[in-house]
Amino acid sequence: MTKAKIAILISGTGSNMAALLYAAKHPDCPYEVALVASNNPDAPGLKLAEAEDIPTFAHPHKGLTREAHDEIMHDAIIAAKADHVALAGYMRILSPEFVGKWEGRMLNIHPSLLPKYKGLHTHQRALEAGDSQGGCSVHLVTAELDDGPVLGQSPVAVLPGDTAETLASRVLIAEHQLYPRTLANYVSRASSPEYLVAQVRERALAMPEADEVTSNGRPWFGTIQGHT
Ligand code: GAR
Repeated sequence: MTKAKIAILISGTGSNMAALLYAAKHPDCPYEVALVASNNPDAPGLKLAEAEDIPTFAHPHKGLTREAHDEIMHDAIIAAKADHVALAGYMRILSPEFVGKWEGRMLNIHPSLLPKYKGLHTHQRALEAGDSQGGCSVHLVTAELDDGPVLGQSPVAVLPGDTAETLASRVLIAEHQLYPRTLANYVSRASSPEYLVAQVRERALAMPEADEVTSNGRPWFGTIQGHT
């Protein structure tokens, strides 16, 4: 199995990075961690990655334009030969250029059930709205903040007396379960029957007068003259 090579970008604790990294230690995990990089040289997660023998890179963003800093991070990711990027508490707004370079290959974890509560203070906003559930989402990164296609979600029940902090701590447990699994599914999607059928469907139905029928529980595609 050729494993996907992941660059994980963090700004702080890096507990999601740790969850991704420890999941990658299992032989059947379809990805390996090629780099942990940060805009914060003091990010505690960097020390953990170093102790686990993962290459690390840090470059502060202070004094740089967003584009210039993103380019430095991009160069480090390329130098590490990573083919996917996983944002894990990377608290930076990304330039459209950087997002464009990693289109379809950059994932993020966000502590809400998107499309609810994009941006900051997600748990507080869920509590103030009287929601019965908080949660987390893994999504593909697009130019708009916290807006790309959702790949996976975990709802987390709100308990009586919850504060933003108590809810956040339980959501974090759910994040650690969700992110490795969703990333693994995403990088190995080319071998999933559902993904392959969806690819065929998209191409087949783009043809004029194309149609889809089910035969013996399987999808068949053809034109109205005759299914093949
Ligand atoms: C996580 O809760 C993650 O979902 C959130 O930051 C925390 C990072 O924790 N990310 C965002 O809010 C991004 N919009 P960690 O450093 O322990 O993984």
